[in-house]
Amino acid sequence: MSLLEIKDLHTYFDTKRGLIKAVNGVSLTIEEGRTLGVVGESGSGKSQTAMSILKLFEQNQKIYSGEIYFDGKKISDLNAQQMSHIRGNDISIIFQEPMTSLNPIFTVNRQISEVLMLHQKLSKKEAEKRSIEMLQQVKIANPVQVNKSYPFQLSGGMRQRVMIAMALACRPKLLIADEPTTALDVTIQAQILRLMNDLKHELGTSIMFITHDLGVINQMADDVAVMYCGQVVESAPVENIFRGSEYLHPYTEGLLTSIPRLNSERTERLDAIPGSVPHPLALPEGCKFAPRCKYACDKCRKEEPELVKVGENHSIRCFYPVKRGEK
Ligand SMILES: Nc1ncnc2c1ncn2[C@@H]1O[C@H](COP(=O)(O)OP(=O)(O)O)[C@@H](O)[C@H]1O
Ligand code: SF4
Ligand SMILES: [Mg+2]
Repeated sequence: MSLLEIKDLHTYFDTKRGLIKAVNGVSLTIEEGRTLGVVGESGSGKSQTAMSILKLFEQNQKIYSGEIYFDGKKISDLNAQQMSHIRGNDISIIFQEPMTSLNPIFTVNRQISEVLMLHQKLSKKEAEKRSIEMLQQVKIANPVQVNKSYPFQLSGGMRQRVMIAMALACRPKLLIADEPTTALDVTIQAQILRLMNDLKHELGTSIMFITHDLGVINQMADDVAVMYCGQVVESAPVENIFRGSEYLHPYTEGLLTSIPRLNSERTERLDAIPGSVPHPLALPEGCKFAPRCKYACDKCRKEEPELVKVGENHSIRCFYPVKRGEK
């Protein structure tokens, strides 16, 4: 049994201009102790898939159809109060900018302790001790000092460590990390990524790691879901995407060729994907990638492909997957 399973999920925003299908038929699974990397350009529905798991919704947003199962239990139809037990306790989330989740007027201790006192019913004293232990666990060198600090007294990298400590305080089974290092400089980013990998191995936490950067996926993920226009267009173990495996989705192929590090001999991004993600209120007929796909033909512009199995644990949503080595 998978730890998390999303089945044909549709989450829409009801706006004056029409229904925005932010999540438009997403199916994915996250296995126990593994990291699922969710990748795609901005606007592909990565964050809204994560928000749907935790029901962190705007007023005009809801799940129209589909199901989400966590640890064998259906969680997609829980109400806000039932969901609040799961959030922070079984499933935690961290975002790109820690300042949006940290409260500027409270110390680190107060914020971590609050989570522990609420979910684990620890006393104030026990919570403070555990808060310092958590800061140690995320490799903060002076945990007692940092525990007494306010968020503005800490650097960006340090704040992200505090967020991770807070997210892991109740030992959740699943940590959702939505572009957690995008706002950090490259050196700090590398440190945080290493920390998250270490913690995954120490604690056995499963991670849903969201990023627009396929290079980061290579370092972090065991399994990959590539998203485009609110759908998963390819899902596979990470080695299938970067090495081996016969077939790729044309969009994944485009993302791969736009990773500068893997193509350092190239000065230009010759094969980068042309055009941009379509507006959610003006999605094309047929395959949503067709206007940007160099392999598109008439069938692609009329019919929409399903996610189809091309190998063990490997599925692609395309009529004509790219055969590696053939161009
Ligand atoms: N508050 C909102 N109201 C209306 N549409 C939204 C809102 N937030 C996101 N969307 C739309 O939902 C789609 C998916 O967005 P998102 O999940 O944030 O993408 P990603 O995280 O992959 O960049 C986009 O088309 C975006 O415009
Ligand atoms: S179905 Fe056609 S347009 Fe869509 S990705 Fe495949 S080849 Fe390209
Ligand atoms: Mg996002």
